[in-house]
Amino acid sequence: MGQRRLLMLAVIVCLFTSSCGRELKLKHKDNHAGYNHTLAKILVEYASAVYLSDLTELFSWTCSRCDGLTKGFEVIELIVDVQHGLQGYVGVAKDPNAIIIAFRGTQGQSIQNWIEDLYWKQLDLNYPGMPDAMVHHGFFSAYYNTTIHPGILTAIKEAKEIYGDLDIMVTGHSMGGAMAAFCGLDLAVNHEAQNVQVVTFGQPRIGNAAFASYYSQLVPNTIRVTNGHDIVPHLPPYYYYFPQKTYHHFPREVWLYEFGLGSLVYRVEKVCDDSGEDPTCSRSVMGNSISDHIVYYGVELRGETCRSCGIVMDPRVAEYRKTDIQGNFIFSRNPAASVLRLDAQSDV
Ligand SMILES: *[C@@H]1O[C@H](CO)[C@@H](O)[C@H](O)[C@H]1NC(C)=O
Ligand SMILES: *[C@@H]1O[C@H](CO)[C@@H](O)[C@H](O)[C@H]1NC(C)=O
Repeated sequence: MGQRRLLMLAVIVCLFTSSCGRELKLKHKDNHAGYNHTLAKILVEYASAVYLSDLTELFSWTCSRCDGLTKGFEVIELIVDVQHGLQGYVGVAKDPNAIIIAFRGTQGQSIQNWIEDLYWKQLDLNYPGMPDAMVHHGFFSAYYNTTIHPGILTAIKEAKEIYGDLDIMVTGHSMGGAMAAFCGLDLAVNHEAQNVQVVTFGQPRIGNAAFASYYSQLVPNTIRVTNGHDIVPHLPPYYYYFPQKTYHHFPREVWLYEFGLGSLVYRVEKVCDDSGEDPTCSRSVMGNSISDHIVYYGVELRGETCRSCGIVMDPRVAEYRKTDIQGNFIFSRNPAASVLRLDAQSDV
């Protein structure tokens, strides 16, 4: 690979001149075929926060992961679908000035089983309104046939009433990435959203080549970040010899990988071609790592290790909560009201 050889050369030059930092940056103009490194690093923090189970901290954006590049974010709606084990939120950020939507992936212990199941997922649903486009029913329903879908739409409507027609950025990791893709497509096609961007991390394949082709025309502003040997983007499998039958990723992949020489490790962010299945990106290596699935850009994408893995919430946010008969709930607040303040009312 030309790029690797170039890197090798650069590393050798570094070793001799000893004037290079630990991280070798190849190309960091901030917009390369739609890939914005700065934005991806912000969105991965949103995708990480949505894993947390302390709903009070998440709703009020005071959680341990709510501090870095996402500081000042205002959650408008936090949706917890207890029935299907799903979680997502919608809110408004100042930088980037946008509505941000994030979906959680599969929680905790079940990740191993979830990955094993991915090998056998069938393309078993015709995507509505798109001839020949097939997707996996389970991924589709997680977005469309749960409390997530109405919750997201309501929150976007409220946000737009107050803040005007902001850009919309949708993100998620793993299964949450699959949901983010369906959400982005839904907003672009069914809700006339103008500026929708989707950035997913470690997302599985969700449909066939026809679906990928529709998707990339309708939501061109999409980046699918993959990492090293992360197994999940390799699943459900891609069968090169059965182009009519196989799952097929949509573009555009950005593959993060490390490249080491002795004790030096260099990180590369490779912007891939527009086929969705660039053979020189993550497909060029074995998908055999779960640990590469869990950390992207140095940010952890899973729940906190379980001392008390149940859902945590305290009475201070109870007034914002609505529960349905299945036990699912939504926290929502009127974005026009002043900023959520917990301290003042903590003894009520
Ligand atoms: C990349 O994203 C950052 C953060 O939202 C933004 O400030 C910057 O302008 C973007 N760069 C380009 C070239 O779009
Ligand atoms: C939606 O979910 C309900 C119950 O969870 C189920 O009975 C129904 O078949 C699902 N519909 C679709 C289109 O998946």
